[in-house]
Amino acid sequence: MRIILDTANLADIRYFNTHFPIEGVTTNPTILSKEGGDVLALLREIRAIIGEEKELHVQVTETEYEKIIEEAKAIVAFLGKNTFVKIPATDVGLRATKTLSDEGYGITVTAVLTATQAMLASNAGAAYVAPYVSRLENICADGVGTVAEIAEIFATSGTDTQILAASFKTAKEVLDVAVVGCHTATVGSEVMHKLLSHPTTDTSIAGFAADWNKAFGDTTLLKLLSK
Ligand code: E4P
Repeated sequence: MRIILDTANLADIRYFNTHFPIEGVTTNPTILSKEGGDVLALLREIRAIIGEEKELHVQVTETEYEKIIEEAKAIVAFLGKNTFVKIPATDVGLRATKTLSDEGYGITVTAVLTATQAMLASNAGAAYVAPYVSRLENICADGVGTVAEIAEIFATSGTDTQILAASFKTAKEVLDVAVVGCHTATVGSEVMHKLLSHPTTDTSIAGFAADWNKAFGDTTLLKLLSK
């Protein structure tokens, strides 16, 4: 399963883009509002950090059909190729998704909470649908199960639409959607760290270093091979 970073924090984007195999960055109005300041400069800097080949997902803020179309085109003109426009799963959003997808724009239909919303978004030509896993789990609904339903529907229809699961609060949720056939997940910084870190990994590494040092002192294989 591909992993995207779900933040607009520049320090986090620099760190994860350097160390983790991320495929891009997703934002939404809330994520951008947390950083504040000059939002266009922020988006331009995110694009500069990740480069033009990685995905940058930016959500529309307009709500009327004509304005969404205008705003979506302006976002892509500003941020260049591999920019995906996030449009919420509403009637107006589906209409805009169809129009923009027909014109070749990559649309991520977002705020997806049911498999039927995902099915309609796919039929409208969306490149991605973004089901909100934790927001469902938090209300005792089945977020992972919803992703599984979408994966099954998409596999049956043979659609090109991909699942971009979003809204994760735990590493286990990320694992669970991977197991049920999710294509891509967008993960915030805190959960991203939890996908990698494990205390036994740390103690294992410490043990290797201690044993090596006891036997060979402060040399390394590189130092020995460079002699
Ligand atoms: C993607 O960018 C989604 O908007 C995001 O994952 C939602 O996450 P939240 O439910 O933690 O706000």
